[in-house]
Amino acid sequence: MKTKADLIQEAKKNAALEAIKHVKNNSIIGLGSGTTVAFAVEALGERIKKENLKIMGIPSSYQAFQLAVQYGIQITTLDEHPIIDITIDGADQVTPELYLIKGMGAALLREKIVATASKYNIIIADESKRVNTLGENNQAVPIEVLPFALQLVKSKIAALGGIPIVREGKGKLGPIITDNGNVIIDANFGLIQNPQELSVKVKMIPGVVETGFFVGLTDIVYIATENKIEKIQK
Ligand code: 5RP
Repeated sequence: MKTKADLIQEAKKNAALEAIKHVKNNSIIGLGSGTTVAFAVEALGERIKKENLKIMGIPSSYQAFQLAVQYGIQITTLDEHPIIDITIDGADQVTPELYLIKGMGAALLREKIVATASKYNIIIADESKRVNTLGENNQAVPIEVLPFALQLVKSKIAALGGIPIVREGKGKLGPIITDNGNVIIDANFGLIQNPQELSVKVKMIPGVVETGFFVGLTDIVYIATENKIEKIQK
């Protein structure tokens, strides 16, 4: 008998398999981060081998880099390929308007850079990520912050109505440090009716490097449920 956790893993894999059908030969692929993307990187590696595809990947994190190496995906950089054909990434929340919160894996900065450089962005997720309004279920917005500015940013977030919590490491004392040497504030703003406006206000705070709001970047979301894959498109 499959457990709920097994079913979620299966759903993530199904969404990943759907996403990699979009990948064509001779393309540059942005590799997002997270447990769902891991299934896509593995499946992409298998396709490359089986179909002898010429694909290069641009990883959005050290995790994505390691996965690409593990599954035999050749790596390139944004300097060599400033335009990415397709990026496949996960998300922490997705609305019907394709507004996202990302960054629970602390990779939001490079994920946003890769997404912005991409002609096409595909998000894959299981149905627990689907919401009507960002911020439901007490979901905080991850914000990458320069350590020097931490206290200033916390007070400015509070002034915008958010509750800022510095993310602690697991297996390490003190705050987590991102791949870019920064820290993460998880800011709970309650329900967020206008993520674009709030994202701009947060981004304007000196010391904020990037926010986990992804608005206007996504082309398709594949949400996998127990028995089907739902496609949400622009
Ligand atoms: C990392 C991210 C991830 O894509 C997001 O957290 C989803 O991860 P998972 O697929 O493991 O649920 O934004 O910064």
